[in-house]
Amino acid sequence: MLSGMKFLITAGPTREPLDPVRYLSNRSSGRMGYALAGAARHEGHEVVLISGPTALDVPPGVDFIHVETAQQMYDAVHDMVGGVDVAILCAAVADYRPVAVAEQKMKKHAERLVLELERTPDILGSMRSVFGFAGVLVGFAAETQEIEHYARGKLERKGCDMVVANDVSRADIGFDSRENEVLLVFPDRTEALPRDTKEHIALHIVEHAALLHS
Ligand code: PMT
Repeated sequence: MLSGMKFLITAGPTREPLDPVRYLSNRSSGRMGYALAGAARHEGHEVVLISGPTALDVPPGVDFIHVETAQQMYDAVHDMVGGVDVAILCAAVADYRPVAVAEQKMKKHAERLVLELERTPDILGSMRSVFGFAGVLVGFAAETQEIEHYARGKLERKGCDMVVANDVSRADIGFDSRENEVLLVFPDRTEALPRDTKEHIALHIVEHAALLHS
């Protein structure tokens, strides 16, 4: 068994505040990322899990960092990436955040309200170019069409060794479900993992990632 590596895993959604009581977020439950953390620990690896808010228990033996926003997740990954052998970025990070965060709860005056949004930092896209990460890099791709095509584009643009692509237009897999069905996209090939529990899918992903390191 290939054990004893250091894994960094991101999971869950981020929350981008609008005011003290409101935020923009998404339907990620964190299950896929927590299953990856549990699988990596089960395989004998050291694991740091950086997660947005979820209702899940942290798998035993896993180092845990809680974050809320994309910026906090970016900062935590930056702080923890030194010495990491395998990074798996599974979090559903908000791509945009409100430009202005109101200090007080926003009052409803007008019939329509236009929010101005700005891009959040691209954590996966910073791993090689900004953080200088040289280990095995695994990204996720949440797609609704041309899944393999878009995943391969991400693999190449972000310098990944593997991209795990899932179809998030389906209710039975992907976001907030107990199961998933994914394509593992490598530079030279693609492998399909049929529908299964996120725990079983996670074990396959961890085994593939560990093999890429050896
Ligand atoms: O949490 P669950 O309910 O179990 O659902 C699992 C999942 C559907 C969230 C998971 O399987 C998944 O697809 N995660 C990636 C979701 C996503 O945001 O995909 P994306 O195609 O928008 O992003 C591509 C990659 O860039 C991902 O590795 C993402 O973590 C990363 N990213 C995105 C934006 C950003 N600002 N920084 C990033 O690092």
